[in-house]
Amino acid sequence: MFFDEHNLLSNPVWDLSGFDNLAELEVKVKTCNRCALRSGCRGVVFGEGSPKANLVLCGEGPGADEDLQGRPFVGRAGQLLDKILQVCGFERFSHAYILNVVKCRPPGNRTPIAEEIIACSPNLQAQLRILKPKILVLLGAAALQALLDPKGKITRERGNWVKKGELYIMPTYHPAALLRNPNLKKETWEDFKQVVAKYRELVDPGHYSAYC
Ligand code: URA
Repeated sequence: MFFDEHNLLSNPVWDLSGFDNLAELEVKVKTCNRCALRSGCRGVVFGEGSPKANLVLCGEGPGADEDLQGRPFVGRAGQLLDKILQVCGFERFSHAYILNVVKCRPPGNRTPIAEEIIACSPNLQAQLRILKPKILVLLGAAALQALLDPKGKITRERGNWVKKGELYIMPTYHPAALLRNPNLKKETWEDFKQVVAKYRELVDPGHYSAYC
């Protein structure tokens, strides 16, 4: 296979099926070297939030600020994400868990390529298996394509729930897209209002938000 330079398909060593808690998984994932991204970044950005979260948000990959701090969504897009969460009545460490499709910063903040997404997929899948969220928000096309539909278009899929087993998945725009094009904020707000409604339905009927 074209991406098997790192022996991804036949490498039985990267078996994460035995991990059943996030802290131990994080230690293991921080040793990951399955694609070339790891050699070009400072460190693995595993993700953060409440390990008991019913709501998981998935972005694309760490940027420069995230690589520097070792935390997801801490740059400008992250600050906007925190504001969106706040108006929804969510707080990243109590209601949510935030992670990315790839855990290592792609050079120059380019979009991760297929080989990198495939290489990192066991890490992401293991996180989701352990977290078992009720609601998964896909932030942008990379998350949509990695987790739902490799050919998915965010402009077409956003705002529509996809149900996989017990999990409700909401694709929406990436906060960085909102910074580039503020016209997308209105639709994004509609999507997050749906997330709040679903959270009330599935998790906490008394969930408070001053705005919706
Ligand atoms: N953009 C992402 O997709 N993820 C981050 O963690 C930061 C910016």
